[in-house]
Amino acid sequence: MTNKTVYLNGHYVPLDEAKISVMDRGFLFGDGVYEVIPCYLGHLFHFQAHVDRLTASLAGIGMVNPYSTQQWLEIFKPLIDNSENQYIYLQITRGVAPKRDHAFPDNIQPTIFAMCNNIMPFAGLETGVKAITLEDSRWKFCNIKAIALLAHLLLRQEAVEQDCAEAILIKDGVVTEGAASNVFALIDGVLVTPLKDNRILAGITRDVILELAEKNNIPCREDNISASELKTATEIWVTSSTREIIPVVELDGNPVADGKVGTVWHTMNTIFQAYKQSLL
Ligand SMILES: Cc1ncc(COP(=O)(O)O)c(C=O)c1O
Repeated sequence: MTNKTVYLNGHYVPLDEAKISVMDRGFLFGDGVYEVIPCYLGHLFHFQAHVDRLTASLAGIGMVNPYSTQQWLEIFKPLIDNSENQYIYLQITRGVAPKRDHAFPDNIQPTIFAMCNNIMPFAGLETGVKAITLEDSRWKFCNIKAIALLAHLLLRQEAVEQDCAEAILIKDGVVTEGAASNVFALIDGVLVTPLKDNRILAGITRDVILELAEKNNIPCREDNISASELKTATEIWVTSSTREIIPVVELDGNPVADGKVGTVWHTMNTIFQAYKQSLL
């Protein structure tokens, strides 16, 4: 890995030299939030929506967004390579406290870290992937993009150990989301995705897909998906900023419909790629 430049607390430094205190509350408690923002050939994708979600995540943990959209843009610019498809990883923790105490300390500065990496094309986009359903073991505030991801990691790891690309999570008998993605299912010809509430992260990719579906007359709705409806769905997708729209062709060891990537996925993926191009 090259020793590329990253941003830490107002400075641009080589990655090797970016250091934080062990008293940082992100390190001690996972007390912070993050964002992942795609940047295609230098163009940040739905940047304002990502900034708005960041502001909401920060508010969710009692913090204030320290910068305006324009200021964030200025911070990110030096990290971006305009000839690549990349994503910005931004992490904000509550900062470094004098002692380890659960209650929020007064008057500390947040720790702000950002880096930019290339998006690697996801193997399985054209062929589809396997997924498993798992009980959603996470907390009550999944709408906050919190850096404390241990439950997500355990769930994803269980999927990987079962040779699956993603875990689709079920809470009280209904689908919430993937370990690191939102879920869409084609049910009776309608594209359905769970409602936005504190059980899921409001994915930016999810919102873009809903907008594009509406514009292109693909029937869609936000609604509960029961675990049994998921089993009989004719298509299942998992979506995220870095992997985009991934078709699931096998769920819990059973083929989704005929076990091949569905026609609605092909249509939506074409529309999505064209939309991305139109923003460059
Ligand atoms: C738990 C979870 N849900 C949904 C998403 C998708 O969000 P976005 O489309 O904004 O990347 C992610 C992305 O990493 C995620 O971690």
